[in-house]
Amino acid sequence: MCGTTLTAAPVPAVLLNSGATMPSVGLGTYEIPDAQAESVIRWAARIGYRLIDTAASYGNERGVGAGIRAADVPREDFFVVTKIRGRDHGYDATARALEASLDRLGLDYLDLFLIHWPLPRQDRYVDTWRAMAKLSANGLVKSIGVSNFTPAHLDRLEQETGIVPAVNQVQINPRLAQTAWREHAADRGIVLQSWGPLGHGGSLLQDPVVEGIADFHGKTAGQAVLRWHLDNGLVPIPKTKRPSRLAENLGVFDFHLTSDDHRELELLDGAQSAMDPDTYEEF
Ligand SMILES: NC(=O)c1ccc[n+]([C@@H]2O[C@H](COP(=O)([O-])OP(=O)(O)OC[C@H]3O[C@@H](n4cnc5c(N)ncnc54)[C@H](OP(=O)(O)O)[C@@H]3O)[C@@H](O)[C@H]2O)c1
Repeated sequence: MCGTTLTAAPVPAVLLNSGATMPSVGLGTYEIPDAQAESVIRWAARIGYRLIDTAASYGNERGVGAGIRAADVPREDFFVVTKIRGRDHGYDATARALEASLDRLGLDYLDLFLIHWPLPRQDRYVDTWRAMAKLSANGLVKSIGVSNFTPAHLDRLEQETGIVPAVNQVQINPRLAQTAWREHAADRGIVLQSWGPLGHGGSLLQDPVVEGIADFHGKTAGQAVLRWHLDNGLVPIPKTKRPSRLAENLGVFDFHLTSDDHRELELLDGAQSAMDPDTYEEF
């Protein structure tokens, strides 16, 4: 993945409730193994990616961090996100988990630290959240947020701590539009990052509605779906290891979907079911 120097147009940013700005498209790294992550991140940085999403549970923070450090982009221009896994929930464990993630990444601060899953049956996410707020006050993380939190989990965080997450990273795509969650987040100024934004690259991208909209705009199905996220104020973090798709997934800032496109895509909602954050557990 090397070649001539590329000049990338900056990805537009969104403002978070912490005052920080976050790129409006990022790179997901789930299932990019440690050994490949460095070269993928370096290439992604060259073509304009600045928001990089990883997690302790992906087992690739070392490779991701190596790519960030080796990239021809200053650290402060990146927006680095990682997540705390279930086994590290709890007030004291949270600080240790952050230290371990920073150590693996080889970085001295994070742009965004997320609680990966709420694990409500363990009932430690409020304590975890309090610890994250303290880490944020100490400057080790610039913004704090959550992932896979339902409106009820978010309400409890706010009621018990008074601190509203900057970001909630949730599974969203046109077949799983999560309208109620989006309205709840918008009311509270929480930015939603969409995971699985392309439906994991499966049949969503072969859907005739999606293909028709993509053809109309002279774009690929992936680009049409990513534009749906952007038009809805969502921040997609598509994952790919392939250089051609890395570029394709950033080629979404020169068009908009029409209101007819949006009406057609709304009809796809409900065709995919979500993982249930009230019962799903991983440690
Ligand atoms: N918070 C959470 O609980 C959670 C859960 C899951 C994921 N995530 C995050 O969200 C990121 C994205 O989600 P995801 O990886 O599950 O799914 P995704 O981004 O919707 O889809 C990734 C799949 O689509 C393919 N792909 C990428 N760009 C494409 C394009 N333009 N056209 C056709 N296929 C394309 C990729 O294959 P190739 O690599 O072969 O191109 C890969 O198989 C993850 O990597 C991770 O960072 C978070």
